[in-house]
Amino acid sequence: MLDKVKSTQPELFEPPRPNSLSTMPALLRAMFTQDGNLIELLPRNAYRIKIGNLGYSRRSIVIINDATEIRAILTNPTDIYPKNDLMVGALAPLVGESVFVSDGDQWRSQRAMIAPAFHHMKLSKAFLSMEAAVNDYEQILDARAADNKAFSLDLTMSHLTADVICRTVFSTPLASQTAREVFESFAYFERSVAHVEIKRLIFQPAWSHIPQKPDVLQACERIRSHLGKMVDGHLSEGAAFEDIATEIIAAKDQKTGKGFTREQLIDQLGVFFLAGHETTASALTWAFYVLATRPDILACLREEVDRITDGGPINFSHIRALDLTRSIFKESMRLYPPITFIPRVAAKDSTIMGRKVKRGAMVMIAPWVVHRHEAYWQNPHSFDAERFMAHREHELISNTYMPFGLGPRVCVGANFATIEATLILARLARKYDFTMEPNQTVKPVARLTTRPKDQIKIRVAKRNT
Ligand code: HEM
Repeated sequence: MLDKVKSTQPELFEPPRPNSLSTMPALLRAMFTQDGNLIELLPRNAYRIKIGNLGYSRRSIVIINDATEIRAILTNPTDIYPKNDLMVGALAPLVGESVFVSDGDQWRSQRAMIAPAFHHMKLSKAFLSMEAAVNDYEQILDARAADNKAFSLDLTMSHLTADVICRTVFSTPLASQTAREVFESFAYFERSVAHVEIKRLIFQPAWSHIPQKPDVLQACERIRSHLGKMVDGHLSEGAAFEDIATEIIAAKDQKTGKGFTREQLIDQLGVFFLAGHETTASALTWAFYVLATRPDILACLREEVDRITDGGPINFSHIRALDLTRSIFKESMRLYPPITFIPRVAAKDSTIMGRKVKRGAMVMIAPWVVHRHEAYWQNPHSFDAERFMAHREHELISNTYMPFGLGPRVCVGANFATIEATLILARLARKYDFTMEPNQTVKPVARLTTRPKDQIKIRVAKRNT
Protein backbone atom coordinates (compact mmCIF):
# COMPACT_ATOMS: atom_id res chain seq x y z
CA MET A 1 0.00 0.00 0.00
CA LEU A 2 2.87 2.32 0.84
CA ASP A 3 4.35 1.83 -2.64
CA LYS A 4 0.98 2.38 -4.19
CA VAL A 5 0.45 5.66 -2.36
CA LYS A 6 4.00 6.79 -3.14
CA SER A 7 3.81 5.90 -6.81
CA THR A 8 0.46 7.56 -7.42
CA GLN A 9 1.19 10.56 -5.23
CA PRO A 10 4.80 11.42 -6.02
CA GLU A 11 4.52 15.04 -5.07
CA LEU A 12 2.91 16.43 -1.97
CA PHE A 13 0.82 19.49 -2.49
CA GLU A 14 0.02 22.55 -0.41
CA PRO A 15 -3.66 23.32 -0.18
CA PRO A 16 -4.56 27.00 0.36
CA ARG A 17 -3.72 29.03 3.48
CA PRO A 18 -3.49 32.76 4.05
CA ASN A 19 -0.01 34.16 3.57
CA SER A 20 1.29 35.14 6.99
CA LEU A 21 2.65 38.62 7.62
CA SER A 22 4.61 40.11 10.49
CA THR A 23 2.67 41.44 13.49
CA MET A 24 1.66 45.00 12.54
CA PRO A 25 0.84 44.33 8.86
CA ALA A 26 -1.17 41.25 9.98
CA LEU A 27 -3.14 43.41 12.42
CA LEU A 28 -3.74 46.14 9.85
CA ARG A 29 -4.91 43.60 7.28
CA ALA A 30 -7.36 42.05 9.77
CA MET A 31 -8.71 45.49 10.75
CA PHE A 32 -9.02 46.47 7.10
CA THR A 33 -10.76 43.34 5.79
CA GLN A 34 -13.13 43.25 8.80
CA ASP A 35 -14.08 39.65 8.01
CA GLY A 36 -13.20 38.44 11.49
CA ASN A 37 -10.64 36.03 10.15
CA LEU A 38 -8.45 35.31 13.16
CA ILE A 39 -6.12 33.12 11.10
CA GLU A 40 -4.94 36.20 9.24
CA LEU A 41 -4.21 37.93 12.52
CA LEU A 42 -1.53 35.34 13.33
CA PRO A 43 1.93 36.75 12.67
CA ARG A 44 4.49 34.78 10.68
CA ASN A 45 6.61 33.90 13.72
CA ALA A 46 3.63 32.25 15.49
CA TYR A 47 4.53 29.07 13.57
CA ARG A 48 8.07 29.00 14.99
CA ILE A 49 7.86 30.06 18.64
CA LYS A 50 6.92 27.83 21.59
CA ILE A 51 5.26 30.62 23.58
CA GLY A 52 4.60 34.26 22.74
CA ASN A 53 2.41 37.24 23.44
CA LEU A 54 0.30 38.30 20.50
CA GLY A 55 0.99 41.70 21.92
CA TYR A 56 -1.52 44.00 20.26
CA SER A 57 -4.42 43.89 22.64
CA ARG A 58 -5.34 45.59 25.91
CA ARG A 59 -5.89 42.15 27.29
CA SER A 60 -2.80 40.01 26.99
CA ILE A 61 -3.14 37.08 24.58
CA VAL A 62 -0.54 34.38 25.22
CA ILE A 63 -0.19 31.78 22.53
CA ILE A 64 1.20 28.43 23.67
CA ASN A 65 2.73 26.05 21.13
CA ASP A 66 4.87 23.95 23.44
CA ALA A 67 3.48 20.41 23.36
CA THR A 68 4.16 19.56 27.02
CA GLU A 69 2.79 22.88 28.21
CA ILE A 70 -0.36 22.52 26.11
CA ARG A 71 -1.11 19.22 27.80
CA ALA A 72 -0.35 20.72 31.22
CA ILE A 73 -2.80 23.59 30.62
CA LEU A 74 -5.58 21.45 29.19
CA THR A 75 -5.29 18.86 31.96
CA ASN A 76 -4.72 21.25 34.85
CA PRO A 77 -6.79 19.82 37.72
CA THR A 78 -6.98 23.09 39.65
CA ASP A 79 -9.39 24.78 37.24
CA ILE A 80 -6.93 27.63 36.83
CA TYR A 81 -7.49 27.87 33.06
CA PRO A 82 -11.24 27.60 32.58
CA LYS A 83 -13.09 28.03 29.29
CA ASN A 84 -12.59 31.46 27.80
CA ASP A 85 -15.15 34.10 28.83
CA LEU A 86 -15.61 35.49 25.28
CA MET A 87 -16.56 32.07 23.98
CA VAL A 88 -18.78 31.23 26.95
CA GLY A 89 -20.55 34.60 26.59
CA ALA A 90 -21.23 33.99 22.90
CA LEU A 91 -22.61 30.47 23.41
CA ALA A 92 -24.49 30.86 26.70
CA PRO A 93 -27.77 32.17 25.20
CA LEU A 94 -27.90 29.02 23.11
CA VAL A 95 -26.56 26.26 25.32
CA GLY A 96 -26.96 27.68 28.83
CA GLU A 97 -24.57 26.07 31.26
CA SER A 98 -24.08 22.87 29.32
CA VAL A 99 -21.03 20.60 29.33
CA PHE A 100 -19.31 22.55 26.54
CA VAL A 101 -19.10 25.79 28.52
CA SER A 102 -19.29 24.80 32.19
CA ASP A 103 -16.27 24.34 34.47
CA GLY A 104 -15.30 22.78 37.81
CA ASP A 105 -17.61 20.37 39.63
CA GLN A 106 -20.59 21.27 37.48
CA TRP A 107 -18.66 20.19 34.36
CA ARG A 108 -17.35 17.00 36.05
CA SER A 109 -20.88 15.90 36.92
CA GLN A 110 -22.26 16.68 33.46
CA ARG A 111 -19.40 14.97 31.66
CA ALA A 112 -19.86 11.79 33.73
CA MET A 113 -23.57 11.83 32.87
CA ILE A 114 -23.24 12.24 29.09
CA ALA A 115 -20.10 10.16 28.36
CA PRO A 116 -21.80 6.70 28.43
CA ALA A 117 -24.03 7.73 25.49
CA PHE A 118 -20.88 7.76 23.31
CA HIS A 119 -19.41 4.40 24.31
CA HIS A 120 -18.41 1.96 21.59
CA MET A 121 -21.50 -0.25 21.86
CA LYS A 122 -23.80 2.74 21.59
CA LEU A 123 -21.90 3.93 18.54
CA SER A 124 -22.52 0.64 16.77
CA LYS A 125 -26.26 1.42 17.08
CA ALA A 126 -25.76 5.04 15.99
CA PHE A 127 -23.97 3.66 12.93
CA LEU A 128 -27.30 2.40 11.56
CA SER A 129 -28.73 5.94 11.69
CA MET A 130 -25.57 7.28 10.05
CA GLU A 131 -26.02 4.76 7.24
CA ALA A 132 -29.66 5.79 6.77
CA ALA A 133 -28.60 9.43 6.39
CA VAL A 134 -25.96 8.49 3.80
CA ASN A 135 -28.48 6.35 1.87
CA ASP A 136 -30.79 9.37 1.52
CA TYR A 137 -27.90 11.63 0.68
CA GLU A 138 -26.78 9.35 -2.14
CA GLN A 139 -30.16 9.83 -3.74
CA ILE A 140 -29.59 13.57 -3.68
CA LEU A 141 -26.15 13.14 -5.24
CA ASP A 142 -27.57 10.78 -7.87
CA ALA A 143 -29.93 13.59 -8.90
CA ARG A 144 -27.03 16.08 -8.89
CA ALA A 145 -25.00 13.72 -11.05
CA ALA A 146 -27.92 13.38 -13.48
CA ASP A 147 -28.53 17.13 -13.85
CA ASN A 148 -24.76 17.89 -13.86
CA LYS A 149 -25.15 21.23 -12.09
CA ALA A 150 -22.57 22.76 -9.74
CA PHE A 151 -23.53 22.97 -6.06
CA SER A 152 -22.07 24.15 -2.76
CA LEU A 153 -19.86 21.53 -1.13
CA ASP A 154 -19.99 23.29 2.26
CA LEU A 155 -23.77 23.54 2.41
CA THR A 156 -24.38 19.96 1.40
CA MET A 157 -21.89 18.71 4.00
CA SER A 158 -23.70 20.76 6.67
CA HIS A 159 -27.02 19.20 5.62
CA LEU A 160 -25.62 15.69 5.70
CA THR A 161 -23.96 16.00 9.11
CA ALA A 162 -27.01 17.79 10.57
CA ASP A 163 -29.13 14.91 9.30
CA VAL A 164 -26.79 12.45 11.05
CA ILE A 165 -27.11 14.40 14.31
CA CYS A 166 -30.91 14.62 14.10
CA ARG A 167 -31.23 10.90 13.47
CA THR A 168 -28.70 9.75 16.06
CA VAL A 169 -29.77 12.16 18.82
CA PHE A 170 -33.54 12.41 18.23
CA SER A 171 -34.42 9.58 15.80
CA THR A 172 -35.74 12.29 13.46
CA PRO A 173 -34.52 12.97 9.91
CA LEU A 174 -33.53 16.52 9.03
CA ALA A 175 -36.40 16.50 6.55
CA SER A 176 -38.88 16.80 9.45
CA GLN A 177 -40.31 20.30 9.97
CA THR A 178 -38.93 20.85 13.48
CA ALA A 179 -35.45 19.58 12.68
CA ARG A 180 -35.26 21.77 9.59
CA GLU A 181 -36.26 24.84 11.60
CA VAL A 182 -33.55 24.07 14.17
CA PHE A 183 -31.02 23.70 11.35
CA GLU A 184 -31.96 26.98 9.71
CA SER A 185 -31.90 28.94 12.96
CA PHE A 186 -28.52 27.40 13.76
CA ALA A 187 -27.15 28.47 10.40
CA TYR A 188 -28.36 31.99 11.16
CA PHE A 189 -26.83 31.90 14.66
CA GLU A 190 -23.49 30.78 13.28
CA ARG A 191 -23.38 33.43 10.59
CA SER A 192 -24.20 36.19 13.06
CA VAL A 193 -22.52 35.26 16.33
CA ALA A 194 -19.43 33.58 14.99
CA HIS A 195 -17.86 36.71 13.63
CA VAL A 196 -15.53 37.45 16.51
CA GLU A 197 -15.10 41.18 16.24
CA ILE A 198 -11.39 41.76 16.19
CA LYS A 199 -11.88 45.20 17.79
CA ARG A 200 -13.60 43.49 20.70
CA LEU A 201 -10.79 41.00 21.10
CA ILE A 202 -8.29 43.82 21.17
CA PHE A 203 -9.95 46.49 23.29
CA GLN A 204 -12.32 44.69 25.67
CA PRO A 205 -11.05 43.75 29.16
CA ALA A 206 -11.59 40.19 30.43
CA TRP A 207 -15.04 39.18 31.76
CA SER A 208 -16.77 42.29 30.45
CA HIS A 209 -20.40 41.70 29.60
CA ILE A 210 -20.90 41.58 25.86
CA PRO A 211 -24.52 42.01 24.88
CA GLN A 212 -25.67 39.83 21.99
CA LYS A 213 -27.62 41.40 19.14
CA PRO A 214 -31.41 40.97 19.43
CA ASP A 215 -31.64 38.90 16.23
CA VAL A 216 -29.03 36.47 17.59
CA LEU A 217 -30.98 36.13 20.85
CA GLN A 218 -34.18 35.52 18.88
CA ALA A 219 -32.45 32.77 16.86
CA CYS A 220 -31.35 31.16 20.16
CA GLU A 221 -34.91 31.30 21.48
CA ARG A 222 -36.27 29.69 18.30
CA ILE A 223 -33.67 26.90 18.48
CA ARG A 224 -34.37 26.24 22.17
CA SER A 225 -38.10 26.20 21.62
CA HIS A 226 -37.80 23.63 18.78
CA LEU A 227 -35.34 21.53 20.76
CA GLY A 228 -37.84 21.68 23.62
CA LYS A 229 -40.51 20.15 21.36
CA MET A 230 -38.18 17.31 20.43
CA VAL A 231 -37.28 16.74 24.09
CA ASP A 232 -40.99 16.69 24.99
CA GLY A 233 -41.60 14.07 22.31
CA HIS A 234 -39.06 11.89 24.10
CA LEU A 235 -40.34 12.67 27.60
CA SER A 236 -43.95 11.93 26.74
CA GLU A 237 -45.46 8.83 28.16
CA GLY A 238 -44.99 5.71 26.11
CA ALA A 239 -42.22 7.19 23.97
CA ALA A 240 -39.67 4.52 23.11
CA PHE A 241 -36.54 5.45 21.22
CA GLU A 242 -33.05 4.02 21.01
CA ASP A 243 -31.02 7.16 20.57
CA ILE A 244 -28.66 9.59 22.29
CA ALA A 245 -31.48 11.77 23.69
CA THR A 246 -32.92 8.72 25.45
CA GLU A 247 -29.53 7.98 27.02
CA ILE A 248 -29.14 11.56 28.26
CA ILE A 249 -32.68 11.63 29.66
CA ALA A 250 -31.95 8.44 31.64
CA ALA A 251 -28.56 9.67 32.95
CA LYS A 252 -28.27 10.30 36.72
CA ASP A 253 -25.73 12.27 38.71
CA GLN A 254 -23.60 9.83 40.70
CA LYS A 255 -23.75 11.85 43.95
CA THR A 256 -27.31 13.20 43.98
CA GLY A 257 -29.02 10.53 41.90
CA LYS A 258 -30.84 13.30 40.03
CA GLY A 259 -31.28 13.49 36.26
CA PHE A 260 -31.24 16.60 34.03
CA THR A 261 -34.22 18.96 34.17
CA ARG A 262 -36.04 19.79 30.91
CA GLU A 263 -34.05 23.04 30.52
CA GLN A 264 -30.77 21.25 31.18
CA LEU A 265 -31.70 18.62 28.60
CA ILE A 266 -32.20 21.39 26.05
CA ASP A 267 -28.76 22.77 27.00
CA GLN A 268 -27.02 19.42 26.58
CA LEU A 269 -28.80 18.27 23.45
CA GLY A 270 -28.33 21.71 21.91
CA VAL A 271 -24.59 21.27 22.38
CA PHE A 272 -24.62 18.01 20.45
CA PHE A 273 -26.25 19.86 17.59
CA LEU A 274 -23.87 22.82 17.88
CA ALA A 275 -20.62 20.92 18.45
CA GLY A 276 -21.55 17.84 16.48
CA HIS A 277 -22.50 18.92 12.99
CA GLU A 278 -20.65 22.02 11.81
CA THR A 279 -17.35 20.57 13.04
CA THR A 280 -17.70 17.35 11.06
CA ALA A 281 -19.08 19.30 8.08
CA SER A 282 -16.00 21.53 8.17
CA ALA A 283 -13.61 18.54 8.18
CA LEU A 284 -15.51 16.81 5.37
CA THR A 285 -15.64 19.96 3.26
CA TRP A 286 -11.85 20.17 3.31
CA ALA A 287 -11.44 16.43 2.76
CA PHE A 288 -13.71 16.45 -0.29
CA TYR A 289 -12.01 19.60 -1.53
CA VAL A 290 -8.75 17.62 -1.51
CA LEU A 291 -10.38 14.67 -3.28
CA ALA A 292 -11.90 16.95 -5.93
CA THR A 293 -8.49 18.57 -6.48
CA ARG A 294 -6.39 15.41 -6.42
CA PRO A 295 -7.92 12.44 -8.30
CA ASP A 296 -4.80 10.39 -7.48
CA ILE A 297 -5.61 10.54 -3.75
CA LEU A 298 -9.22 9.67 -4.52
CA ALA A 299 -7.99 6.63 -6.47
CA CYS A 300 -5.94 5.39 -3.49
CA LEU A 301 -8.89 5.84 -1.15
CA ARG A 302 -11.13 3.83 -3.50
CA GLU A 303 -8.57 1.10 -3.83
CA GLU A 304 -8.58 0.73 -0.03
CA VAL A 305 -12.37 0.71 0.28
CA ASP A 306 -12.79 -1.85 -2.52
CA ARG A 307 -10.08 -4.05 -1.03
CA ILE A 308 -11.33 -3.95 2.57
CA THR A 309 -14.99 -4.46 1.74
CA ASP A 310 -14.49 -6.69 -1.27
CA GLY A 311 -16.90 -4.45 -3.13
CA GLY A 312 -19.72 -5.16 -0.65
CA PRO A 313 -21.50 -2.90 1.87
CA ILE A 314 -19.39 -0.89 4.32
CA ASN A 315 -20.19 -2.23 7.79
CA PHE A 316 -19.33 -0.99 11.26
CA SER A 317 -16.65 -3.68 11.45
CA HIS A 318 -14.88 -2.30 8.33
CA ILE A 319 -14.45 1.21 9.72
CA ARG A 320 -11.41 0.44 11.84
CA ALA A 321 -9.65 -1.24 8.90
CA LEU A 322 -10.04 1.78 6.59
CA ASP A 323 -6.65 3.16 7.56
CA LEU A 324 -6.00 5.46 4.58
CA THR A 325 -9.59 6.76 4.51
CA ARG A 326 -9.41 7.68 8.19
CA SER A 327 -5.94 9.19 7.65
CA ILE A 328 -7.31 11.45 4.89
CA PHE A 329 -9.90 12.67 7.42
CA LYS A 330 -7.18 13.20 10.04
CA GLU A 331 -4.82 15.01 7.67
CA SER A 332 -7.70 17.27 6.55
CA MET A 333 -8.23 18.15 10.23
CA ARG A 334 -4.52 18.73 10.73
CA LEU A 335 -4.38 21.36 8.00
CA TYR A 336 -7.90 22.67 8.65
CA PRO A 337 -8.78 21.90 12.29
CA PRO A 338 -12.55 22.50 12.55
CA ILE A 339 -12.05 24.17 15.94
CA THR A 340 -9.34 26.63 14.89
CA PHE A 341 -8.58 27.87 18.41
CA ILE A 342 -9.07 26.39 21.88
CA PRO A 343 -9.11 29.50 24.07
CA ARG A 344 -8.85 29.53 27.85
CA VAL A 345 -8.60 32.36 30.38
CA ALA A 346 -6.19 32.67 33.32
CA ALA A 347 -8.47 32.69 36.38
CA LYS A 348 -5.58 33.94 38.53
CA ASP A 349 -2.02 35.17 38.12
CA SER A 350 0.19 32.28 37.05
CA THR A 351 3.48 31.40 35.40
CA ILE A 352 3.74 29.52 32.12
CA MET A 353 7.20 28.50 30.87
CA GLY A 354 8.78 31.10 33.11
CA ARG A 355 6.51 33.92 31.92
CA LYS A 356 4.16 35.73 34.24
CA VAL A 357 0.61 35.46 33.01
CA LYS A 358 -1.79 37.91 34.60
CA ARG A 359 -5.30 37.08 35.73
CA GLY A 360 -7.66 37.71 32.82
CA ALA A 361 -5.08 36.98 30.11
CA MET A 362 -6.32 34.94 27.20
CA VAL A 363 -4.41 31.67 27.06
CA MET A 364 -4.62 30.60 23.45
CA ILE A 365 -4.02 27.08 22.23
CA ALA A 366 -4.36 27.09 18.49
CA PRO A 367 -4.64 23.74 16.70
CA TRP A 368 -4.32 25.75 13.47
CA VAL A 369 -0.82 26.83 14.52
CA VAL A 370 0.39 23.74 16.40
CA HIS A 371 -0.69 21.52 13.48
CA ARG A 372 1.54 23.57 11.15
CA HIS A 373 4.38 24.26 13.56
CA GLU A 374 7.82 23.88 11.99
CA ALA A 375 9.26 22.04 15.01
CA TYR A 376 6.68 19.25 14.92
CA TRP A 377 5.87 18.50 11.29
CA GLN A 378 7.85 17.74 8.17
CA ASN A 379 6.45 19.72 5.24
CA PRO A 380 3.99 21.31 7.67
CA HIS A 381 1.75 22.92 5.04
CA SER A 382 1.64 19.92 2.69
CA PHE A 383 -1.14 17.36 2.55
CA ASP A 384 0.36 13.96 3.38
CA ALA A 385 -2.31 11.60 4.70
CA GLU A 386 0.19 8.80 5.10
CA ARG A 387 1.72 10.45 8.15
CA PHE A 388 -1.28 9.16 10.13
CA MET A 389 -1.25 5.61 8.74
CA ALA A 390 -0.30 2.77 11.04
CA HIS A 391 3.15 2.27 9.50
CA ARG A 392 4.16 5.91 10.11
CA GLU A 393 2.34 6.64 13.36
CA HIS A 394 5.62 6.37 15.30
CA GLU A 395 6.76 9.63 13.64
CA LEU A 396 4.03 11.64 15.38
CA ILE A 397 5.04 13.72 18.39
CA SER A 398 2.74 13.49 21.44
CA ASN A 399 0.39 16.40 22.12
CA THR A 400 0.96 18.10 18.77
CA TYR A 401 -2.23 16.87 17.08
CA MET A 402 -5.42 18.03 18.79
CA PRO A 403 -8.40 18.48 16.46
CA PHE A 404 -10.57 17.09 19.28
CA GLY A 405 -8.73 18.90 22.08
CA LEU A 406 -6.69 17.08 24.73
CA GLY A 407 -7.03 15.85 28.29
CA PRO A 408 -10.22 15.43 30.30
CA ARG A 409 -12.18 17.89 28.14
CA VAL A 410 -11.32 16.10 24.93
CA CYS A 411 -14.30 15.98 22.58
CA VAL A 412 -16.83 13.47 23.86
CA GLY A 413 -17.96 12.91 20.25
CA ALA A 414 -14.48 12.19 18.81
CA ASN A 415 -15.12 8.51 18.04
CA PHE A 416 -18.62 9.30 16.82
CA ALA A 417 -17.24 11.90 14.39
CA THR A 418 -14.40 9.65 13.21
CA ILE A 419 -16.76 6.77 12.45
CA GLU A 420 -19.23 9.09 10.74
CA ALA A 421 -16.61 10.84 8.59
CA THR A 422 -14.88 7.58 7.61
CA LEU A 423 -18.21 6.13 6.54
CA ILE A 424 -19.17 9.22 4.54
CA LEU A 425 -15.79 9.48 2.82
CA ALA A 426 -15.72 5.79 1.97
CA ARG A 427 -19.30 5.63 0.70
CA LEU A 428 -19.27 8.79 -1.41
CA ALA A 429 -15.72 8.49 -2.75
CA ARG A 430 -16.44 4.96 -3.84
CA LYS A 431 -19.48 6.00 -5.83
CA TYR A 432 -18.77 9.44 -7.31
CA ASP A 433 -16.17 11.49 -9.14
CA PHE A 434 -15.84 15.08 -7.93
CA THR A 435 -14.79 18.08 -10.00
CA MET A 436 -14.07 21.60 -8.84
CA GLU A 437 -15.76 24.40 -10.74
CA PRO A 438 -13.02 26.41 -12.45
CA ASN A 439 -11.70 29.82 -11.33
CA GLN A 440 -12.45 29.59 -7.63
CA THR A 441 -10.27 31.16 -4.97
CA VAL A 442 -10.39 28.98 -1.89
CA LYS A 443 -9.38 30.74 1.31
CA PRO A 444 -9.74 29.31 4.83
CA VAL A 445 -11.25 31.56 7.50
CA ALA A 446 -11.83 30.96 11.21
CA ARG A 447 -15.51 31.35 12.04
CA LEU A 448 -17.25 29.12 14.56
CA THR A 449 -15.35 26.44 12.60
CA THR A 450 -12.60 26.64 9.98
CA ARG A 451 -14.43 27.27 6.72
CA PRO A 452 -13.73 28.35 3.17
CA LYS A 453 -14.41 32.11 2.93
CA ASP A 454 -16.62 31.60 -0.12
CA GLN A 455 -18.56 28.44 -0.73
CA ILE A 456 -16.70 25.80 -2.74
CA LYS A 457 -18.62 24.81 -5.87
CA ILE A 458 -18.25 21.27 -7.18
CA ARG A 459 -19.97 18.84 -9.54
CA VAL A 460 -20.40 15.12 -9.11
CA ALA A 461 -20.66 12.33 -11.66
CA LYS A 462 -21.11 8.62 -11.20
CA ARG A 463 -17.67 7.01 -10.86
CA ASN A 464 -16.34 5.85 -14.21
CA THR A 465 -13.16 4.03 -13.22
C1 HEM B 1 -14.86 16.47 13.47
C2 HEM B 1 -15.76 16.68 14.41
C3 HEM B 1 -15.48 17.32 15.74
C4 HEM B 1 -14.43 18.09 16.14
C5 HEM B 1 -13.23 18.53 15.34
C6 HEM B 1 -14.68 18.44 17.53
C7 HEM B 1 -13.81 19.22 18.30
C8 HEM B 1 -13.96 19.44 19.65
C9 HEM B 1 -13.00 20.11 20.50
C10 HEM B 1 -11.68 20.70 20.02
C11 HEM B 1 -13.48 20.10 21.76
C12 HEM B 1 -12.78 20.61 23.00
C13 HEM B 1 -12.99 22.09 23.19
C14 HEM B 1 -12.21 22.63 24.37
O1 HEM B 1 -11.45 21.94 25.07
O2 HEM B 1 -12.41 23.84 24.61
C15 HEM B 1 -14.78 19.47 21.71
C16 HEM B 1 -15.60 19.29 22.80
C17 HEM B 1 -16.86 18.75 22.73
N1 HEM B 1 -17.45 18.14 21.64
FE1 HEM B 1 -16.61 17.92 19.82
N2 HEM B 1 -15.85 17.89 17.93
C18 HEM B 1 -16.38 17.17 16.88
C19 HEM B 1 -17.53 16.43 16.87
C20 HEM B 1 -18.39 16.30 17.94
C21 HEM B 1 -19.60 15.49 17.95
C22 HEM B 1 -20.08 14.64 16.79
C23 HEM B 1 -20.20 15.69 19.16
C24 HEM B 1 -21.47 15.10 19.73
C25 HEM B 1 -22.39 14.50 19.03
C26 HEM B 1 -19.35 16.60 19.92
C27 HEM B 1 -19.61 17.04 21.21
C28 HEM B 1 -18.70 17.72 21.99
C29 HEM B 1 -18.95 18.06 23.38
C30 HEM B 1 -20.22 17.76 24.18
C31 HEM B 1 -17.79 18.71 23.84
C32 HEM B 1 -17.55 19.25 25.25
C33 HEM B 1 -16.79 18.21 26.05
C34 HEM B 1 -16.39 18.67 27.45
O3 HEM B 1 -16.07 19.84 27.63
O4 HEM B 1 -16.39 17.80 28.32
N3 HEM B 1 -18.27 16.93 19.14
N4 HEM B 1 -15.04 19.05 20.43
